[in-house]
Amino acid sequence: MLDRTTLQGTELETSRTGPRKPDLLSVEDAKALDVRTMADLFKDHINPGQFHFMKLLGFHKVKVESAEGMYYTDQNGRKILDFFGGFGSLAHGHNHPRVLEARKRFQDEGRHEIAIAFLSQYASALAKNIAACSPGDLDMVFLGSTGSEAMEAAVKVAERASGRKNCKIVHAENSFHGKSKGVLSLTDSPLYQGDFKLVGNTYKVPFGDLDALKRVVENDSDIGVVVLETVQGGGGIVTAPTEYWQGVRALCDRHDVVWVADEVQCGYGRTGKFYAFEHHGVVPDVTALAKSLGAGKAPVGAMIARREIYMKAYGTPKTAMIHAQATFGGIGEACITAIEGLNVLYDEDLIGNSAETGAYLKKRLEALQEKYPKIIKEVRGQGLMVGLEFQDFSKTLPLALRPMVAMLDDKLKGSLSGFIGAALLRDYDVLVAFTEYNRNVIRLEPPLICDESHVDIFCDALDDLLGRGIVSIVKNFIQSQVS
Ligand SMILES: Cc1ncc(COP(=O)(O)O)c(C=O)c1O
Repeated sequence: MLDRTTLQGTELETSRTGPRKPDLLSVEDAKALDVRTMADLFKDHINPGQFHFMKLLGFHKVKVESAEGMYYTDQNGRKILDFFGGFGSLAHGHNHPRVLEARKRFQDEGRHEIAIAFLSQYASALAKNIAACSPGDLDMVFLGSTGSEAMEAAVKVAERASGRKNCKIVHAENSFHGKSKGVLSLTDSPLYQGDFKLVGNTYKVPFGDLDALKRVVENDSDIGVVVLETVQGGGGIVTAPTEYWQGVRALCDRHDVVWVADEVQCGYGRTGKFYAFEHHGVVPDVTALAKSLGAGKAPVGAMIARREIYMKAYGTPKTAMIHAQATFGGIGEACITAIEGLNVLYDEDLIGNSAETGAYLKKRLEALQEKYPKIIKEVRGQGLMVGLEFQDFSKTLPLALRPMVAMLDDKLKGSLSGFIGAALLRDYDVLVAFTEYNRNVIRLEPPLICDESHVDIFCDALDDLLGRGIVSIVKNFIQSQVS
């Protein structure tokens, strides 16, 4: 065997029988890339079109060097307050010390990762923990890596359990359930659906409209599955009242339809309960988690099904392997990351904090809405999942500004959220999230460790910015693009 430590480069080269090593960057090279090179590589190898949008918002100038708690730190030592939170992926904040410690111990002990051949103590323990956090008999857990994968599993188990041969699926307008081919059919976005040939047999109904749902379900006995986000994230943080959810439960029971609640974004304590549906005293048949389940350090998704539903779909030896664990489902370090994350969630009462700090955030934003009624249209949401909708300025911006704004980007035309988000980052070191379906909405999903002092920093920054007035914010944005 070659002792590579004693061989110099040339000797190593001549002893090779495989291909020459391509021009590869090392880990240290990657860390040391400067902003300009990062941008060039992103354009050359990842997504040149997406770079255009990042540039428009000024996000392309930031290289994050480290992250801790509520903050990123960039290449200039600037601390950026994270009110974006990876669309709800950072419940524990960045680099939670207990999560880091659990991962380090796991590595130091030389533990194994891939869990296909043998049973995995880590996957089994994580599944048990997720079931313990879930109400009713939501006891059966499929582990994967992403929200889309969890939702694919959810729709599949529901379809089989529905018992319909020609099963049809209902979803909501403005829904987002992922971009993989199956759930893309249930994601109500012409942009994401592109011109792909979608899975057929789907119906779309307005979100929160029980009568519309009833009409569809009552008129077609092939409808076997209803898929709904409990709080619509991509739709701009849209909730529905308790009567709606109780009606959904009763309707599905009456017609033997399987209800799938997508909690990928709104679950995991985000709204002040572990699952958002718990606010309404109902339990769905199937649900899905991802994002914060990985505690900000690992990609982990999970489908959770009522035992009865799971057994109908995959309960016999003949059906057991139809949708069994994928290669990286239940991988060791991801599982222990999620196990530690769930323990931290309860030990630090992050769910209680989400409810309390979320209420404070809403109160402060509502005060700003009163102060700026011509700018802020609505504040909505639950816990630390808050949507801030601005008035639509597409028709009211001064005529002189409209073509300039349209020239920059058609999508930003009339959408204050882009201008405000860009200014918050540039002038106030605060990061917020945008909403693809509704360009007037900023999504606020900070880590659940957020406290009132962080809310004050954010709301004071927003107050100061809005105090400048719309025309000044837009002009400032345009100037920053040309300078
Ligand atoms: C409600 C909901 N479902 C599913 C997904 C898909 O998750 P992922 O991006 O991890 O595939 C998302 C992602 O934003 C989501 O918000």
